[in-house]
Amino acid sequence: MNYAKFVGWGSYLPSLVVKNRDLVHFVDTTDEWILSRTGIKERRYSHVSTGEMAWLSAEKALASAGMLPSDLDLIILGSTTANDVCPNTASYIKNKLKAGSAAAIDINSACTSWLYGVAMMSDMIKAGSIKTGMVIGSERLSLGLDWNKRESCCLFGDGAGAVVLTRSNEKLGLISSRISCVPDSREFLEIPNWGIQPGIHTNDLHLSMNFDGAAIFKRAVKSMSLDCQAVLNQAGLTIKDIDLFIPHQANIRIINAVGSKLGVDPDKTIVTIDRFGNTSAASIPISLCEALESGIIKGGETILLASFGAGLSCGAAILKWGASTKHVKETHFSIPSYQGEVTELLSDSFSYHGINCS
Ligand code: COA
Repeated sequence: MNYAKFVGWGSYLPSLVVKNRDLVHFVDTTDEWILSRTGIKERRYSHVSTGEMAWLSAEKALASAGMLPSDLDLIILGSTTANDVCPNTASYIKNKLKAGSAAAIDINSACTSWLYGVAMMSDMIKAGSIKTGMVIGSERLSLGLDWNKRESCCLFGDGAGAVVLTRSNEKLGLISSRISCVPDSREFLEIPNWGIQPGIHTNDLHLSMNFDGAAIFKRAVKSMSLDCQAVLNQAGLTIKDIDLFIPHQANIRIINAVGSKLGVDPDKTIVTIDRFGNTSAASIPISLCEALESGIIKGGETILLASFGAGLSCGAAILKWGASTKHVKETHFSIPSYQGEVTELLSDSFSYHGINCS
């Protein structure tokens, strides 16, 4: 039987750190509100595109696996903020990696895009249609936020994370997975006009996220818990068999609510939302990389992954980690840091939304 083992990983976090107390200069909010209601202290905003962030995390993951770009049969980019829709952004990353004629697909299921991608690629590897591939989650949501909507603009951050999967006969990688989508819940999180609509011919275009946080919160806790239970059952495991819980990082209260519903020991839960906010499709791979880099993953762990996002899409998986916790090689590629201030970086977005920061 084939499995799809995780053999490389890498992440990229933009250099510009924006603390809650920086946001108060242009959003009607407080550090206290954001921290107590979400668990977020700071986030990163990127000066480079989703594709660039994705590319660097991909170079790191490839070096980490000790593989060549030509080893890749497929690159999946999970993102809601792809720099290009046609041609897709995965093909940009593929060309920049010099990955020859590897297939390249963008998938968008919002915050669950990376998990959806990993589930799909694992099944393709198990079925034998490809041998090796890379799944990247990368988001630059800072460009899509409406600074007049304090209920949503404080929550998100930018970043990218990537993993390399390859065929193995060891029982490693995803040993069970479920992807799903909650019925009749599209309107709770939407960015109208972020796609082709008739408005494109009448200039009736204004990008602004519509968001019902409380409605999402309830459905997220319920649907993630159900999907987690389903993948545990599928794998013949109970929550006691789980060594590590890596949930999507949308709100610390959602993470804790799902954890307590399932009976996860809080010490086994990876939390990165305090430093990076909600990086959407990038949040689980960034958290996975952090657990590896900090030595929390020592090899052999059984890891529960859970995610949800606009749609409302949802999903969970059981990931059996192998022995490798060290990079085979390091990449020599990098992205120069941003030297300016947040007001300079986002000046176009601020003026579009009528924000005056002076
Ligand atoms: N600063 C200060 N006050 C704010 C605020 C901000 N940034 N954002 C909202 N508020 C106010 C609201 O205006 C409202 O005020 P009112 O009661 O006077 O009308 C009040 O805070 C609502 O607070 P609360 O009841 O605590 O909201 P909440 O517990 O639902 O928390 C979210 C709000 C958004 C943090 C929470 O619902 C959430 O995290 N939802 C899901 C996250 C999500 O969808 N992520 C994206 C998908 S992955």
